[in-house]
Amino acid sequence: MAILKIAQLGHPILRQVAVPIPPERIGSPEVQELISNMSHTLHEYDGAGLAAPQVHVSVRLVVLILLDEECVLINPIITPLTDELIRTVEGCLSVTNMRAAVDRPAKIRLQALDETGAEVDLELEDFDAVVVQHECDHLDGIIYVDRCDTTTLAFLGEYRRWGSLDTLAERMAAEE
Ligand code: NI
Repeated sequence: MAILKIAQLGHPILRQVAVPIPPERIGSPEVQELISNMSHTLHEYDGAGLAAPQVHVSVRLVVLILLDEECVLINPIITPLTDELIRTVEGCLSVTNMRAAVDRPAKIRLQALDETGAEVDLELEDFDAVVVQHECDHLDGIIYVDRCDTTTLAFLGEYRRWGSLDTLAERMAAEE
């Protein structure tokens, strides 16, 4: 196993649309080794998820923590199941030490293949739905900063000091 180098914002591979993995290739040593190395890398950096383009491989593969377990998604398809949006503060291993608030559909259907080629078909809500959407965006060259409320963008140190800027005015008003 290896810890892989993570592409940082500005690297062109993060903006490419990744290609599907043919299902018959999922069991190949190359794909299995990539999954193993991505898993190792995700743990090393204590992330919630990692998409293959972030480790410089432009294929539709994600490793993430879902329902409190590590999970592999290959060629995922997301269908929003509600117009209701959920706002959370997101970060990304490819945008080091930044945070920002992002609104995303609060409930989705996720269809994909797992590391054995078995079909995944789940309905997800709240934080699980958010993580899946964030990671799958990477497969289309989209980064959370494209979708965020830019007035909430913060360096991690300032975020830890002040909290999310979209709620700061509310909190300060409440304290007065
Ligand atoms: Ni990310």
